[in-house]
Amino acid sequence: MADNIVILTGAGISAESGLGTFRDAGGLWSQYDLEDVATPEGFARDPGLVHEFYNARRANMLAARPHAGHEALARLQRHWPGRVTLITQNIDDLHERAGARDVIHMHGELSRALCAACEHRWDAPAEMQPDAPCPQCAAPQTRPDVVWFGEIPYHMERIGKALSEAQLFVAIGTSGAVYPAAGFVAEAAQAGARTIEINLERSEVAGLFDEHILGPASQLVPEWADRMLEPRR
Ligand code: APR
Repeated sequence: MADNIVILTGAGISAESGLGTFRDAGGLWSQYDLEDVATPEGFARDPGLVHEFYNARRANMLAARPHAGHEALARLQRHWPGRVTLITQNIDDLHERAGARDVIHMHGELSRALCAACEHRWDAPAEMQPDAPCPQCAAPQTRPDVVWFGEIPYHMERIGKALSEAQLFVAIGTSGAVYPAAGFVAEAAQAGARTIEINLERSEVAGLFDEHILGPASQLVPEWADRMLEPRR
């Protein structure tokens, strides 16, 4: 019986595709105040600024391409004999464009829109406007379908179940600065899983991992996935 693998990715896996991370030097939170663009209060104060921020990130996403690391995770999903659950904190679609399936976007998706009034969801246009009416209820309260600070991440029940059944947990490209994602390694270890961190540098929760593979994801993730898929000796 092959191991169940749970993978958690963060902004670091999209860095080499040209999408900004948050907390690296020059990261998004050094360019914008997250209170203004990634909280419900910020959206209530100035929806135009919030749409400007996400319209720019959506444009970057559409211009970006997945790299060998994204492709390696899709390959692992296809060929690994056990279950591979791919959870991402990222709101870009690079995992899907690399061929990954059933990606769990716990912080939502840039490519989706949400009506703050009636909770209707639809595919987001390239540019969202602050006063655009909801296609369902016509309220001018449309927002990107992303999870802001102070809001509940999506799919937490499904994530908890996958962590409780994992034999291997791998975190890739995440600083371990934001919960609940930063707590997944402890949940997986609690369930008896082996834990690996693949990251440019040790994360804030590095001490909780059994193994660290340090360096760029575009090189290390394919190497790791190929080692996992090598025909068993
Ligand atoms: N390869 C591997 N790791 C990398 C690379 C790379 N090329 N470049 C950067 N990293 C690592 C950094 O060392 C850092 O530990 O990726 C991590 C990025 O950390 P953050 O910028 O904090 O991104 P993330 O962990 O995804 O943030 C979590 O915070 O702001 C919220 O909702 C937002 O989902 C985000 C959450």
